[in-house]
Amino acid sequence: MLAGKKILLGISGGIAAYKSLFLIRLLKKAGAEVKVIVTKNALEFVTKVSLETLSQEKIYCDVFAQDNDYSTEHVALTDWGDIMIVAPATGNIIGKFAHAIADDALSTAFLAFDKKVFLAPAMNSKMYSNPAMLDAIDILKSRSIHIIEATEGILACGYEGKGRMEEPETIFNIIEEHFSKEQKYIGKNVLITAGPTIEPLDPVRFISNHSSGIMGFSIANEFALQGAKVTLISGPLAKPIAIDPEISLINITTAREMHNKVIEAFGKADICVMAAAVADFTPEKISIKKIKKSSDTINIKLVRTTDILKELGTKKNPKQILVGFALETDNEISNATVKLHTKNLDCIVLNSLNDKGAGFGTSTNKISIIKRDGTCRNYPLKNKNEVAFDIVNFIFSNFIEGK
Ligand code: CTP
Repeated sequence: MLAGKKILLGISGGIAAYKSLFLIRLLKKAGAEVKVIVTKNALEFVTKVSLETLSQEKIYCDVFAQDNDYSTEHVALTDWGDIMIVAPATGNIIGKFAHAIADDALSTAFLAFDKKVFLAPAMNSKMYSNPAMLDAIDILKSRSIHIIEATEGILACGYEGKGRMEEPETIFNIIEEHFSKEQKYIGKNVLITAGPTIEPLDPVRFISNHSSGIMGFSIANEFALQGAKVTLISGPLAKPIAIDPEISLINITTAREMHNKVIEAFGKADICVMAAAVADFTPEKISIKKIKKSSDTINIKLVRTTDILKELGTKKNPKQILVGFALETDNEISNATVKLHTKNLDCIVLNSLNDKGAGFGTSTNKISIIKRDGTCRNYPLKNKNEVAFDIVNFIFSNFIEGK
């Protein structure tokens, strides 16, 4: 599985750095090529000689080292690597990664790396639970960085709590799983929509919603990771989200533009997942000039937009898999089931605004997936990357595997 894979391993300065020696052994034994970038502090815990011996490669530490072939070698390494793992990832390096600080070889390489990254944090439990650290980890998760959470136990500093770097064998298994799932969707065209739409009222105002786009982007990234050719049609995002470089991204603004682009792309799609929060209504007229406050009230006439998903339901051929989302506040299952049938979907992903941590503007979600035969699979509250993984796997095992 790992034979010939190119793994860029970052090691930052924590006592868990010694575990990375075992990780290199496991990766090399499995046939992977491993190149190591260390921070200066990491070399307080493990030596260059050990790392060189185990990886059978030169070790990178200094951006301006005399023996670098050329001064941006650490950046060139990012073209070389298929994935990047940083283990251990200390509080300091996580803070830098989350805020685009690039002041050494490892943080610079991270900033330049545009493929899948895994981080295995290790630090004192109080540092780990500090709100600044939790925020930094959340930022990285929302950018599709895979966090391999630290485990609980006795820490090197004598404390007991969460902060031990995950064991090398477990990290190795996660990496192996990453490469093994790549093949599942090879040859499939997948169309995803994400984010909100913006419906202008005048040159300065608009109607929109709170959709962050994280759910749709995570689904698109997961499909791409599993080998699909992905087209992602997205509304304007409040904060940019990283995407797999293989994904074709089409940016739109209004529901009408989304409609046009989706209809154009749907013919080629084997699977379509409509995760966008498309406006149901748009102003009948857009005022060319700014609307002035000339009276105490204002009436703005809104007209219905086209229900894109419903139209796809009428166009779809029996081989195409059509998946919708339903965001509900009440009678969740019955409302979602009605949408599933009226829009002729294969399944619908339900998230309820009544569930804490689910829906808009959070990095987590709690979903249920309902099929046409009435079966409903409930999932616990998870990070949106993990939810995307569940959705992509649900589609595979229910509609593709064995068909
Ligand atoms: N959808 C769409 N076009 C629209 C509105 C919604 O394609 N104009 C899609 C969404 O992307 C989502 C699904 O329809 O996959 C359900 O969206 P939701 O807002 O939950 O429901 P609506 O069908 O708009 O119904 P209502 O707002 O009345 O609940």
